Amino acid sequence: MTSTRASLNQSILQSSNLRRRCNPVWERPSSLVKLPRGAGIAACLNLEVKEPPAPPSIGFGDDSKGVMEAEGKVLVGTYARAPVVLASGRGCKLYDVEGREYLDLSSGIAVNALGHGDPDWVNTVLEQANTLTHVSNVYYSVPQVELAKRLVASSFADRVFFTNSGTEANEAAIKFARKFQRHTHPDEKEPATEFISFTNSFHGRTMGALALTSKEHYRTPFQPVMPGVTFVEYGNIEATKEKIKRGKTAAVFVEPIQGEGGICSATREFLQYLRSACDDAGALLVFDEVQCGLGRSGYLWAYEAYGVYPDIMTLAKPLAGGLPIGAALVTEKVASAIKYGDHGSTFAGSPLVCKAAQTVLDKISKPDFLASVRKKGEYFKQKLVQKLGGNLHVKEVRGLGLIIGIELDVSASPLVDACRNSGLLILTAGKGNVVRLVPPLIITEEELDQAVEILFNALPALDENSSN
Ligand SMILES: Cc1ncc(COP(=O)(O)O)c(C=O)c1O
Repeated sequence: MTSTRASLNQSILQSSNLRRRCNPVWERPSSLVKLPRGAGIAACLNLEVKEPPAPPSIGFGDDSKGVMEAEGKVLVGTYARAPVVLASGRGCKLYDVEGREYLDLSSGIAVNALGHGDPDWVNTVLEQANTLTHVSNVYYSVPQVELAKRLVASSFADRVFFTNSGTEANEAAIKFARKFQRHTHPDEKEPATEFISFTNSFHGRTMGALALTSKEHYRTPFQPVMPGVTFVEYGNIEATKEKIKRGKTAAVFVEPIQGEGGICSATREFLQYLRSACDDAGALLVFDEVQCGLGRSGYLWAYEAYGVYPDIMTLAKPLAGGLPIGAALVTEKVASAIKYGDHGSTFAGSPLVCKAAQTVLDKISKPDFLASVRKKGEYFKQKLVQKLGGNLHVKEVRGLGLIIGIELDVSASPLVDACRNSGLLILTAGKGNVVRLVPPLIITEEELDQAVEILFNALPALDENSSN
């Protein structure tokens, strides 16, 4: 194992050096040197894994324009993608099919917390895939139980339900909340079934989670969504008073730090108020930590920064290092309402995904790792304020750990495009006026400096497109 890892590290270094020589950082090369398909991986892993067969050609080869054109013909048009076809990644760097290098501050939307191709994660996945990938939940499997044990040991929760995504984790939380109300009020003809959610919230795209998501244009084309959701202004205690009602409210869903909504952090008072109002009304408090959980805030769980505990916490994005996973972590009180057959999933909690997640959780939950996220987050925010704060379009730099937002007084899209053209991948959030920075948690201060420099140099794009 050790020698495998050493040779993997060595060859990753060689392969990224090779690419760097071909394609110096931040420059769009005029003549491109292409590596043969798969060479970067197969040449170096030194594990007994055969290179996958090349997919049958549909005529676009390695050319990004060809891939984009083909995509437009064969995929349902749900995504307004950036015009980049990514082919490989190492650490915080991504490479497109033409060999251009990008510094990745998007992490696959806050997923790739360990960056791309983390050697321990790769080894875990390869070994587990070679051992056992999927068995369904008809049977027991060791990695699932082991991961649940670690999640329980590291959080407020007593039990775990696995899903395949964030939206499914929230669907599970919706069902558990309703079942909890029914279970605790067996004589009630109409137990509480309603939910409270907040402005700028994002909880997912399936019908229940969508009903809890505040942006109307996500919901209206698909109405009727699940009824019984009341939206209240995020952070506004006064507005929330009277809304959480005994016998009506099954649960309150809240992100301790809103990601998609624009990197807005709750206050301790707000979450404390929600906790006590839920207790008074017999409602459950659900923290959606799909984006802000698992180290991103500099704490293993964002709720730790507030000292307020939920009844249910939903997780997903970074948990399995890029493989699909979700989880609803619950207290015993909630779990006791759930019986065989109440919920389930064919794929969820597979040995492969759970083993990968153990590696992610083991690495991220180390106190030193979390301290480094907090330190780098502070460093990054400071640098951003120093370098970008003087620009008239920059209203605020905010966030916790490595979930950081730059609020602008104009659309952030021209800046995102200009950064991408200079080799930096970033995201938008909020009403499109917030730059969302969610780098891999392993990013170095040097890489953060590079990102700040590119952002700074790209700022004039905001004026060139001031009509936006
Ligand atoms: C806070 C939050 N909840 C839920 C979701 C939905 O997760 P998924 O896209 O995995 O379904 C997201 C996705 O961005 C999210 O940020």
